[in-house]
Amino acid sequence: MNVMTPPNDLAALWMPFTANRYFKAHPRMIVAAKGCTYTTSDGRTLVDGLSGLWCTGAGHGRPEIAQAVAQQMTAMDYAPGFQIGQPLAFELANRLAELAPGNLDHVFFTNSGSESADTAIKMARGYWRVKGEPQRMKVIGRAKAYHGVNFGGMSVGGIAGNRKMFGGGIDADHMPHTLLAANAFSKGLPKFGAEKAEELEDIIALHDASTIAAVMVEPFSGSAGVILPPVGYMKRIREICDKYGILLIFDEVITGFGRTGHMFGAQALGVTPDIITLAKMITNGTIPMGAVLATESIYNAFMEAGGPEHAIEFPHGYTYSGHPVACAAALATLDVIKSDGLVARAAKLAPYFEEAIHSLKGLPHVEDIRNFGLAGAVQLEEVPGLPGKRAFDVFQKCWDKGAYVRCGGNTLQFAPAFVAETADVDRLFGIVADALKESV
Ligand SMILES: Cc1ncc(COP(=O)(O)O)c(C=O)c1O
Repeated sequence: MNVMTPPNDLAALWMPFTANRYFKAHPRMIVAAKGCTYTTSDGRTLVDGLSGLWCTGAGHGRPEIAQAVAQQMTAMDYAPGFQIGQPLAFELANRLAELAPGNLDHVFFTNSGSESADTAIKMARGYWRVKGEPQRMKVIGRAKAYHGVNFGGMSVGGIAGNRKMFGGGIDADHMPHTLLAANAFSKGLPKFGAEKAEELEDIIALHDASTIAAVMVEPFSGSAGVILPPVGYMKRIREICDKYGILLIFDEVITGFGRTGHMFGAQALGVTPDIITLAKMITNGTIPMGAVLATESIYNAFMEAGGPEHAIEFPHGYTYSGHPVACAAALATLDVIKSDGLVARAAKLAPYFEEAIHSLKGLPHVEDIRNFGLAGAVQLEEVPGLPGKRAFDVFQKCWDKGAYVRCGGNTLQFAPAFVAETADVDRLFGIVADALKESV
């Protein structure tokens, strides 16, 4: 393997969501990826405990995707998406519409989860405007939710640290999260707390339904550390939205394409939203891409109010919406998901993963463990006055011992590839257990 030497000068790059000063003093560099592993610049093999950033469920280095991308690069490297079509975008939209639950059969392409979140918010607000209720602008999210970093998603999101530096966002309010001490160490969806959904009624009463465009939630909150909806909670959220005619948006940037053991989180929870946002696994992480799925009635509302035929019904889009190379990567990914039975593989590995992650119970500072499908988190006691410090230290220890995991706040987060074997899961949690035993 050709292992690259890291550059000496790390100064110019301003790294995203990274402790830049610590990193530049203690660089962690990866230079190659294959299957469920990364190779570091000093030639070590690390087990990839998070599928990159929740996005490479099919495993790294899939030749089918690489070939599709290379072929498309040569055939047509770029195509404008405004007023001009290219076949792959239509084909991919049809394939996604077929997979989607309910009648979510219209697809708008973006380039990331953050763009999908903001596109979904614009769709919801625009929908009410074209339906003659332009005062319905507010979007209700949840505490600890993550909907990306653009202004819409940031405002509806509920991670304080991602918001307070940046000033005013869009008009949003927040329901409470569903992280309850009573549910600590639950396996799968927790038992207690479905009544938290009733707090949506209070928020609606406060603002009046006539001002609310949509409720936006993740099927489970990934970035905050796999915070799960209690049994029955999401069904109740759907009922309350229906009662007041409020649109329900599921942010499935993490849960889309099999992470829960179902194709979409919507199917895992038995709840069909009006809009679904996607990204990450849509191309197995290879090429940036996102998508927003909307129902027939949302799409039709824009078409019916669209004015003269030459007029643009939804004035929104990106230079790279439906990029042909990203479409080729996504189509190849969907083929791999199907041919390898990846959703079923994720479902099959999930019980083993559940036992493995819960085996960490009782290790130093572990105060909660949560899991659903092939996603899980270990919550650690906070070092007084230093939020996130303990999880960061364990993340670094895992790196040193041979595992890439994610730390977020006081949690360690896990999302192995769907192609992982039980031996990969054992190796991952063996390293995490060793790191936790050394945790002070
Ligand atoms: C639920 C959810 N929405 C949106 C995003 C933002 O996606 P991106 O980083 O591709 O903009 C993420 C990223 O982790 C996410 O987990």
